[in-house]
Amino acid sequence: MMEMCAMRYFLLLSLAVFAELQADLLMEVKPLDIIVGLTRQLSINCSFIRTDITTMVKLISLVITRSNETDSQRFYYQASVDVFDGLNNVTGDVSGLIDNRHESYITLTWYSPRSTLIGAYSCEANGENLHGQVVTVTKMAEVTATKPDVENLLDVLEQQSYILESQSSLLKLQSSQLTKLQEDLGQISSSVNEKCICCERFNKSLKSKYAISGLHNGSRYYLSPASWILVMKEAEAQCELLGGYLTEVDSEDEYLFIKNFLVAYQDYEIIYTGGHDEDLENNWVNTYSKSPVKYIKWAQGQPNEGTSGNCLTFWRDQGWTMADNKCFQGVSQYMAGYLCEVSE
Ligand SMILES: *[C@@H]1O[C@H](CO)[C@@H](O)[C@H](O)[C@H]1NC(C)=O
Ligand SMILES: *[C@@H]1O[C@H](CO)[C@@H](O)[C@H](O)[C@H]1NC(C)=O
Ligand SMILES: *[C@@H]1O[C@H](CO)[C@@H](O)[C@H](O)[C@H]1NC(C)=O
Ligand SMILES: *[C@@H]1O[C@H](CO)[C@@H](O)[C@H](O)[C@H]1NC(C)=O
Ligand SMILES: *[C@@H]1O[C@H](CO)[C@@H](O)[C@H](O)[C@H]1NC(C)=O
Repeated sequence: MMEMCAMRYFLLLSLAVFAELQADLLMEVKPLDIIVGLTRQLSINCSFIRTDITTMVKLISLVITRSNETDSQRFYYQASVDVFDGLNNVTGDVSGLIDNRHESYITLTWYSPRSTLIGAYSCEANGENLHGQVVTVTKMAEVTATKPDVENLLDVLEQQSYILESQSSLLKLQSSQLTKLQEDLGQISSSVNEKCICCERFNKSLKSKYAISGLHNGSRYYLSPASWILVMKEAEAQCELLGGYLTEVDSEDEYLFIKNFLVAYQDYEIIYTGGHDEDLENNWVNTYSKSPVKYIKWAQGQPNEGTSGNCLTFWRDQGWTMADNKCFQGVSQYMAGYLCEVSE
């Protein structure tokens, strides 16, 4: 009788200890699901605070291991921190420390994680108990990966347009960041073109920002919102997302149609076309087709900026005739917009 009681007591105690030790070890994986190509960062953070000195008197190491085969129980070493050697890793960026008075942790981070990182991850906290025996506590988490779908792309695009529209933050962007942004936009655009078979929501949200002309000889013209910020590469990428390109004026007929469309938009001082003479002064070519600009209706006294004004624009104050202007990459001197041409 006496023995049974003692045994039950021991059982209860060990259960309690087990639960408490588990609570000492925290494992945090962000995110649990990698969206391939869009997730910027995957991190695994294991932290440990000893709350019960009788079960583990001393923490010796925190180890992250991983099993990549779903059917196998084999775990491979990824990274660790221990009291003898400090930090070690075979993958990712690792940080961490063992602090037996306060919190110990190990964090493993991958940037632009690839789908090869999926699998079951395990955090182990190894220490000693009062009798010098090794005590190990383990936590596990599963990392999965999915391919981006139209919804994910939309979210990214919306974030990106938010950044672009918030002018003060754009001003702070360094040119390297701008390049990155343009690359992202380019990637999203090609990815959307590949995958988007029925993406009405995507097209709608994209188009809603533009003023759209009637149909003329198979094309419509999309006028961007008026802004003090103008990045020509960004304008190109946006036209491409709309399924078109920066407007190429081919004839007087086309010019007159565009002019009649623009008359309603008096907020803009200048509006950019796809024409430029960046490669050779006064040799006006189209950005998209790379062919010569077929029709230019110069305003009086234009062009007059020489090699400092290499972009062809419509000019409100001269009845929407044309002028050469700086190809601004950021802050424009004028309230500006750009015009995309999209064939139907
Ligand atoms: C890891 O998680 C712990 C507990 O939530 C937290 O205190 C610590 O700041 C985290 N470390 C990192 C690098 O995120
Ligand atoms: C699993 O990981 C081990 C060690 O990192 C590696 O040798 C093996 O090729 C991986 N297997 C698969 C199927 O990824
Ligand atoms: C280990 O982490 C360091 C710094 O956190 C990192 O620079 C290094 O590339 C990593 N090693 C491997 C093999 O990934
Ligand atoms: C209409 O477009 C076609 C090709 O897109 C072009 O060849 C033709 O000259 C255009 N017609 C007019 C009147 O601009
Ligand atoms: C959406 O726009 C693309 C061009 O960017 C076009 O190819 C596609 O047909 C459009 N889809 C719908 C459903 O309107």
